[in-house]
Amino acid sequence: MSNQTSEEKKVKLWDFPVRLFHWALVIAIVTAWWANREVMIDIHAIAGYSVLALVIFRLIWGFVGSSNARFADFLTGPRRVIDYLRKLPNGSASELTYAGHNPAGGWMVAVMILLVGVQAVSGLFASENTFLFFDGPLVAYVSSDFASTMNWIHQTNINLIYGAVGLHVFAALFYLAVKRENLIRAIVIGTRRVPAELAGRFANIQFAPPLLGIAILIVCALVVWGGVTLARG
Ligand code: HEM
Repeated sequence: MSNQTSEEKKVKLWDFPVRLFHWALVIAIVTAWWANREVMIDIHAIAGYSVLALVIFRLIWGFVGSSNARFADFLTGPRRVIDYLRKLPNGSASELTYAGHNPAGGWMVAVMILLVGVQAVSGLFASENTFLFFDGPLVAYVSSDFASTMNWIHQTNINLIYGAVGLHVFAALFYLAVKRENLIRAIVIGTRRVPAELAGRFANIQFAPPLLGIAILIVCALVVWGGVTLARG
């Protein structure tokens, strides 16, 4: 940022469950994309179930997780988003530094969680009837009209995911190259460097126990796995 003071402090920003969620989601989405390209439908489906378990986990963590992982913390009204975007080009570090997602980034994150959730859920009802004759685990329980709508959503929504992920990665690189803010480091190792006078904002974050996050994630994985197994009979 333009008017950073020379003295910086290292602060903790993202808890372990949020970081685990982020990189597991990246791996699962890339695996699903690759398996689809290689026509490996079983791996594609497993990657999709993993995305579903991760999204369910993140929805729960958005209510019971660390204070800055909660939706109530980072989903704000349109005025604050517009105000933030106005200040983005020349704002001071004090105006642009948030101990969590900034107002624009928060909505971007919510849209991405929604899009990957829609992708995973629609996949449960989708079919591949050209080479592999593969039905999603819930196809047998719905009408063929509903299943074909879900198929269409599954094939169309992926383009929105490409767009959102492209914008998201562009934003991360923009902050790095133009604003000299390394947000990527924070989503990898959890800590960030900020001007010393702003460190107090980060001291107010209330971190939830990481083991609670891991336990919730395991339960989500078991619920998805059990549900798919039951549905397949
Ligand atoms: C399939 C690709 C990706 C998806 C679906 C994705 C999705 C997400 C989501 C949902 C969050 C919010 C985390 C949370 O609050 O739980 C997030 C945060 C973040 N992601 Fe990604 N991500 C992807 C790839 C990447 C890549 C490749 C980078 C690095 C260049 C990156 C950098 C970041 C950063 C820096 C944040 C934190 C933003 C902030 O400080 O507000 N992401 N991402």
